[in-house]
Amino acid sequence: MIFETIPESPIALTAEQAADMQQLQIKKHQVAIVLLHWFNALVWLAELLTGTALIVSPAYRFAPQWYLILMEQLFGARENLLRFHIAVGITWTIVFLVYAIFGWKHYLHAEVLKKEIGLDHDDFEWLRIRLLKLLGRSQEPLPPQGAYNAGQKLYAVLVYTAVPVIILSGLEMVFHVGSPSLVAWAMLLHFVAVGMVVSGLMVHVYMGAVFPEERPAFYSMITGMVDELYAYRHHFKWWKDIKLQHKHQLPKAAPAQKSEEKPVELSRSKTSGL
Ligand code: HEM
Repeated sequence: MIFETIPESPIALTAEQAADMQQLQIKKHQVAIVLLHWFNALVWLAELLTGTALIVSPAYRFAPQWYLILMEQLFGARENLLRFHIAVGITWTIVFLVYAIFGWKHYLHAEVLKKEIGLDHDDFEWLRIRLLKLLGRSQEPLPPQGAYNAGQKLYAVLVYTAVPVIILSGLEMVFHVGSPSLVAWAMLLHFVAVGMVVSGLMVHVYMGAVFPEERPAFYSMITGMVDELYAYRHHFKWWKDIKLQHKHQLPKAAPAQKSEEKPVELSRSKTSGL
């Protein structure tokens, strides 16, 4: 038995409780989101590799000359490199449009977005304390977090703001709608918006793929699931929400159990069904 009542704030766990919670799996991401995320990551990789090779002007270029030559040789000609960059970008735009149209109700409506990217008081406190901790100037515990912590939310806000700018400026550069100065502005915007995402991406990839404490989050982007102990320790408010939704499954503070009957709690290796 893990909990008979849902705690208001994180309480210390016994070793037995922690071990039990580690066995339980909770669904964090829908299959569609997992697929979209890795499709998106692949697209970003392809677009960054080709996009950096397309900037040839010495004033803006930051990839070394050998890289530009290598990419040009790989694609046969610079025009092919550009065609590839545009084709991937347009495919990405279409996939996101389909996602936005069909996924609106499930993944993008106000309530979901508020939970996933809306910053509340705890989030601002989390950012403050996290920063002080990084500077070695705070021992305060981090406030409980929802499905995403404040850092992840900030990154998601950045991505959701920059992606439409990248798509619209990219289309403007391809189709040259309006005056040449509009195209010039589009180039600048495209570059700045991509740069902003990439600056956050370094932290995102480090936290997601390298940082040991966040390993369960990485696997959740493959299996869709996290163990309950991780959810409790890192995303307490989200864990609590799930428990409240499944309140009826909590074990009753009842007479001693007979024989091998197990509590009705989310049973071992089963999902919360979310
Ligand atoms: C190798 C590259 C990447 C890795 C290892 C990675 C890792 C992860 C992981 C582990 C999560 C889950 C976080 C959690 O559930 O607590 C996540 C979510 C997310 N990632 Fe990435 N990511 C990568 C690339 C990208 C790229 C390129 C973008 C966008 C430009 C991106 C945007 C996001 C967003 C917006 C979420 C939240 C998803 C949601 O709404 O459920 N990621 N990523």
